[in-house]
Amino acid sequence: MEQRGNFTSKLGVVLAAAGSAVGLGNVWRFPTEVGNNGGAAFILIYLACVLFVGVPVMLSEFVIGRHTHSNTISAYNQLAPGKWWRIQGINGVFVAFVILSYYVVIAGWTLFYLVEAVMGNLKESADYTAYFNDFVSSPVSPLIYAVAFMALTHLVVVRGVQAGIEKCSKVMMPMLLLIIAVLVVCSFSMPGTSEGLRFLLQPDFSKVTPGVVLSAMGQAFFSLSLAMGCLCTYASYFGSDTNLFKTACSVSMIDTMVAVLSGFFIFPAVFSVSGVEANAGPGLVFITLPNVFNMAFQNVPVVGYVFTVLFYLLLLLAALTSSISLLESVTAYVVESLHQPRARASVYVSVLSMLLGVLCVYSFGPLSDVKLFGLTFFDLFDFVSSKILLPLGGILICLFTGWYLDRRLVLDEVTNQERLRFKLFRVYLFLIRYVVPIAIAAIFVNELI
Ligand code: PFF
Repeated sequence: MEQRGNFTSKLGVVLAAAGSAVGLGNVWRFPTEVGNNGGAAFILIYLACVLFVGVPVMLSEFVIGRHTHSNTISAYNQLAPGKWWRIQGINGVFVAFVILSYYVVIAGWTLFYLVEAVMGNLKESADYTAYFNDFVSSPVSPLIYAVAFMALTHLVVVRGVQAGIEKCSKVMMPMLLLIIAVLVVCSFSMPGTSEGLRFLLQPDFSKVTPGVVLSAMGQAFFSLSLAMGCLCTYASYFGSDTNLFKTACSVSMIDTMVAVLSGFFIFPAVFSVSGVEANAGPGLVFITLPNVFNMAFQNVPVVGYVFTVLFYLLLLLAALTSSISLLESVTAYVVESLHQPRARASVYVSVLSMLLGVLCVYSFGPLSDVKLFGLTFFDLFDFVSSKILLPLGGILICLFTGWYLDRRLVLDEVTNQERLRFKLFRVYLFLIRYVVPIAIAAIFVNELI
């Protein structure tokens, strides 16, 4: 069997894990949720969720992964041999596989829009709704782009942990952060800046309902890549000197910063164009924004062009670093537990996931009328993974680390065998034992109802 890879630097560790977290969820889903849930009040609640739920769950995943140095399924088998806890290992890898199958569909759309933006085809007079609907419902193009995106992901994963994941993260993440900075600066020169910022920064607590709190928590889970085996797998490549708590804080901070900054360039742009609603829903990225960018920069089309290209490049980079972690999570299992060479394992997983992905691609076209439980395949996969398996996974991870694992083992892991101090250990334990499981259970019940 091949030797296990390792991340070689602290920067590599943070950028790879942040790459997993920063994804379509930040640039697409977060601003949509902010728009739908009343702006700044939602952001404040989201920040609390990241701090009190996100960081403790991420730290728990790091403890499990780094302690065992193995893929997620083996990790639980090793820590709880013969016990039913292993269900969570299987759940983590399974959810990563399912999410990958529909994540590549949206990522494929992003790739298509980037190509179109570069070629200058996202012109001002186009009917963006028809443009989008024609593309996603066509029988060939979205499939080709999804396959192309999956192939890109495979090309990184097949090179392994150091030469593939770490190296790419070190290039793609700084690029991504730079693009965000350029977009924010550019966007601040627009006439809608003050209105956009007011929307983002002035909380209106009358809009806060239990549903808003629960949406914020669901968003934090998805955005931070929690409970899907990805961060646990990445942590298995961390060195013994990696400070797990600091890493969890850095990753959560980068992820949250990218999400908030996305709002900082999207909303000033949206408010600069009259007649466009801030809460434009899922069409925000592919229908509203290309329209907004064109109209906002009508007098300087070159800036509009560059802005649009950079925006879709940003989305593509974000999607790619996340899909790499999804593919790696499953591939690591196939390599280590099914004893396949990495190249073959990555091909198997990519092809199988793409086969499932075909159903998701066609959920917007030929299979849009085929429904199970009233949902298309795309919506069903999304529902089952993010609304059922994910929260369940979150609860299991906390209970496993907080109650099942030996307290000494957890303490040794977060203090690197007592070489570091971790003053918040009791707070962390209290959160994962009581607060987080109860909070997640509340989401779960609410979502199901
Ligand atoms: N966190 C990613 C995003 O915000 O788009 C999505 C994601 C990646 C979810 C990896 C789950 C995962 F394991």
